[in-house]
Amino acid sequence: MADRIIVTGGAGYIGSHVCLELLVAGKEILVIDDFSNSSPESLRRVEEISGRSLEVLRADLADPAQEGAVVEAVRAFGPWGAVHLAGLKAVAESVSEPMRYYRVNLNAATTLAHALTAADARRLVFSSSATVYGELNPNPVRETGRLGPTNPYGRTKLFIEEMLKDLARADPSWRIVNLRYFNPVGAHASGRIGEDPKGNPNNLFPYIAQVAVGRLSRLCVYGGDYPTRDGTGVRDFIHVVDLARGHGAALDYLAASQGGAIDVNLGTGAGYSVLEAIAAFKRASNRDIPFEIVSRRDGDVAEIFADPSLARRLFGWKAERELDAMCADHWRWQRDNPNGYQR
Ligand code: WQD
Repeated sequence: MADRIIVTGGAGYIGSHVCLELLVAGKEILVIDDFSNSSPESLRRVEEISGRSLEVLRADLADPAQEGAVVEAVRAFGPWGAVHLAGLKAVAESVSEPMRYYRVNLNAATTLAHALTAADARRLVFSSSATVYGELNPNPVRETGRLGPTNPYGRTKLFIEEMLKDLARADPSWRIVNLRYFNPVGAHASGRIGEDPKGNPNNLFPYIAQVAVGRLSRLCVYGGDYPTRDGTGVRDFIHVVDLARGHGAALDYLAASQGGAIDVNLGTGAGYSVLEAIAAFKRASNRDIPFEIVSRRDGDVAEIFADPSLARRLFGWKAERELDAMCADHWRWQRDNPNGYQR
């Protein structure tokens, strides 16, 4: 029965939207989260929006001392499979604390794989990232593109993908999808759940949103001299609700698939520049977004966007929401929750 799903990191930005999508689709969910970079309030709101409840285990998947409790809780829940999103995700932090990134992200993945094996639930959707691609791929980037992440965070994603492929080779009853996300933005249309970064945001959309709402005074645009149409970086922004739908579609695909592990891009296939994103957010919010063009940020590529055709072919999924909807929904969340989940 494909209706009982573990969601690790379920209280986070992407996780909360995945939980909502799965609850609305009628699944029973056990969230495993340590709330180190998320709030239980997000799950309360997911229950409120969906009118359904979910189970929660507060645990750190990366802590060997908690492994026994995790394995037991997973077995007791009796899952069909899991969506694995728990992990550390700040690129700059991963450069200064690489061993913490390797320890936490790799331990969490191996512990979950062990718990799913013990529960006889060998189906897994893993939250990977377009960050696994090298810098030299022609756009749009296909899953067969060259790999070569430029920072430890990205390498943890690639290593976990490889680990999961080894697992599927050793035991072909495993069914695994590595989802390579492009740039998730936006929020659920209710404005009740959204991205709530701790401290100053690292990523473009939460930064723009906090400038628009007056929490931050101005945005730095990293680089105005890239070989792109307006000199700023170009990315494949994807609405987090479309991304969440992609997880539901991936689970449905696994339910009908044979064993093995595959990599699948989740993107829209369209690239927008940083200046285009700012202009769209300005229109959606009707607020000023002061910005200044500064030097390039280390490790950034000029332009990257997905070829999302594999997801369409295998899952029957495609992104439906345009940049204007991403901005309108991101803004509604930020406007209604200027301080995130801490009101
Ligand atoms: C997008 C564009 C910046 C902030 C990163 C990770 C990736 C993934 C998603 C995370 C770039 C520019 C940004 C700012 C700016 N993982 N920018 N001013 O770098 O494509 O991907 O986030 O969990 O692994 O690498 O996304 O949103 O940081 O940047 O000008 O204040 O916006 O230079 O061109 P990125 P981003």
